Parts: sequence; structure tokens; C-alpha cells
Amino acid sequence: MKVSPKQITNAADVNAKKEVKADDSVNFNLPPSNNNNISLSNIKTQISNVNNNSDNNNDNNNHVSKEPVNIVKVYNLHKTYLLGIEGVPALRGVSLNIQQGHFVMLLGKSGSGKTSLLNLIGTIDQPTRGDLEICGVKIKRGMTDACTADLRLNHLGFVFQTFNLIGTMTALENVLLPTLLKNGKTTPEAKAKALELLRRVGMSERAKHYPSQLSGGEQQRITIARALVNTPSILLLDEPTGDLDTKNTENIMRLLLALNLEGVTMIMVTHDPNLKSYAHRCIHMMDGRIYNDESISSEIRERAIKELGGFGFKQNNDGTTTTIVIEQQEQEQGMGGDDNLQSMAMNKTELRQPKDFYSILSD
Ligand SMILES: Nc1ncnc2c1ncn2[C@@H]1O[C@H](COP(=O)(O)OP(=O)(O)OP(=O)(O)O)[C@@H](O)[C@H]1O
Ligand SMILES: [Mg+2]
Repeated sequence: MKVSPKQITNAADVNAKKEVKADDSVNFNLPPSNNNNISLSNIKTQISNVNNNSDNNNDNNNHVSKEPVNIVKVYNLHKTYLLGIEGVPALRGVSLNIQQGHFVMLLGKSGSGKTSLLNLIGTIDQPTRGDLEICGVKIKRGMTDACTADLRLNHLGFVFQTFNLIGTMTALENVLLPTLLKNGKTTPEAKAKALELLRRVGMSERAKHYPSQLSGGEQQRITIARALVNTPSILLLDEPTGDLDTKNTENIMRLLLALNLEGVTMIMVTHDPNLKSYAHRCIHMMDGRIYNDESISSEIRERAIKELGGFGFKQNNDGTTTTIVIEQQEQEQGMGGDDNLQSMAMNKTELRQPKDFYSILSD
């Protein structure tokens, strides 16, 4: 399996949008920086500084910093796509800070700019105008692909609106892909980690399956495992539950909440207003702008998590509550009640290749 580092960007950029080319009249207004030579080592230093700060600031509770560290800083972000000769404004001045350890939902009607914003935060697309700082790294127009790829590989995990799994790779190979791109090889430890992640998303039994042999919900779980393999600081999720039924939605939410408790910052696009109670904060978008920035109270959040199940609550001396994952339940139930049945069925079922379904692929 030979994949060049350049290909990660191509694979990650499946949603990449055609943008209006910045000309002299387009002002990419970034704050002054002492460092005009953007290099990989500089970026690594900036990232490690942020990580050190955040280590000091994290508490043992829900990993929400006592002294907030903003892991995402966005100021007056504009994005205009070029469609023919017309510019389509997708973002019209979005400003937003996201605190490390927070679970943030992005809600809004279709076309309101949610995916555009997520792509810019994920550095897989460039703003037409505005300032952006992710994990302490100022994102500048003209940054080399190697610089942003480093940020993506080490600190960001993506779960795309479309699954973007590579059809010719098994589930395990898909999960291992970011490790391969990061290190140029896969080690037995990396494979063990990928298998552990597959177990965690309830997909151990499907490790050797190709995407075409998996349901939408199962593919979504593989993409979540793939997004986690390089231990990201931020997980960017574009409608991860969009195609799922209620039970699978709840299973994915349990997994995401558990990851958030472990300290992963979550930025999740959804159309489902019922999910917002699981978040610390809900950003409502309309016509490329934020029109409401809603804080979810801890009471509402705890109630929603309690009803979801799989979590316990511990009362602290200071009156606050700590949420804890009930591991046993997660292991016993896996990701879905019918998974055990499905895996039992799989033991009796011959594994079929895509060409078994599509005769056109036969020799
Ligand atoms: N590649 C593109 N070229 C031209 N216009 C685009 C492109 N991608 C998005 N747009 C436009 O930008 C606007 C915002 O799109 P975006 O995909 O960010 O919306 P969204 O909120 O994610 O919508 P949905 O909920 O349907 O996924 C829309 O008007 C859309 O038509
Ligand atoms: Mg979208």
C-alpha cells in the first residue's frame, strides 16, 4: 500500500471547493506575525506550546480548561466560491472562539455554510478573507501544503459528510491510512491501535471488510476510527449521524461523548436539533453568518447524557458533577444491540468481494 504524503491532502480534499482566487483587491487580513518564514519546525513548536499550556490547564473533570484555552480562533472569516463567473458567498464574516475540550455543535439550514466553516477550520480549504488560528498555529495564505498537512495529520481528525473511505482498502487499512501517511509505514503497534479503535466503534468483526460490504452506519464508524488513529486534539464531524437510525445515532453519540470526556475537542455539524443537548455550546448558522451562539446548561446536558445511558455521574466536593464512562456497558453492548447478531451471522456468511455484486468488475 504505497501512498505519498501529498495524497492525504487529496484524499482529505474530496470536499474541496473551487474558490475565488485572491487578487490584490481581496484582503486576507491576518494579524502581524514575527515569523514570516513559515516552516514545519516553527509550526511544531507552536503546537507543542499550545499542548503544554493545555496540559497545565486541563482539570480531571470533563477536560474543559479552568482557564480556557481557545484551540480554535476564527475572526471575520469569509469564503466565496466561484461558480462560472459568479461568486457564491458561503461565509460572510464568521468570528468564533472554541475552547479546548468543548463539544460544539453547528446547526443551520442546508446551504448556511456549516461545511464551508468546518473545511476552513480543518485547513482543507482556504478562506477568501479573514483570520484563522488552529491549535496555536496561525493559518496563512501561502502556507505550504506540508505545513497544513502536518497540522491535519497530528492534530485534526475528520469525519466527512460523505464517508470518503477508500473503496479498495479494507476497514483496517482505511483506519491505518493516516498512520501510514504520518510515519511512512505501519508498525505492529499502529495495527494494534487501529484494531483497538475498531473494537471501540464496535467494528472488530468487520476489519477485513471493504467499504462496499458495509452499511452506511458501519462505514461511518470506520471513518470515526480512522479520524482517531493519530490521536487528534480536535475532531471535526460533518453530520456523522446524518444517515443513521435512532439507535445507531445514540451509539455514535455515546462514543463521541466518551472521546470528549477524554479531552478531544468536538466540532460537529448536525441537522438534528435533538442532539444539541449533548453539547456545551450550539452555534446556529444562517446565510453564512452566526445568528445565535447558544450555551447549553450543565443541567440540560447531564440530563441528556443520563437519558442516553452508558455514563455515570460522580458528585464532587465543590458541588459540581463529574461524568464518567461506564466501560463495562460499552464492552458488553458493543456499538449496537444487533451487532452481536450481525457478527454471529457474519461467522456463517461467506465474505463477498465487490465483483461478486458487480459483474462489470469481473475479468
Ligand atoms: N464548490 C462550491 N462551488 C460553489 N458554491 C458552493 C460550493 N460549495 C458550497 N457552495 C455554496 O456555498 C454555500 C454553503 O455551502 P455549505 O456546503 O457550506 O452549506 P451547508 O450548511 O454545509 O449545507 P448542507 O447542510 O446542505 O450540507 C451554499 O450556497 C452552497 O451552494
Ligand atoms: Mg454541509
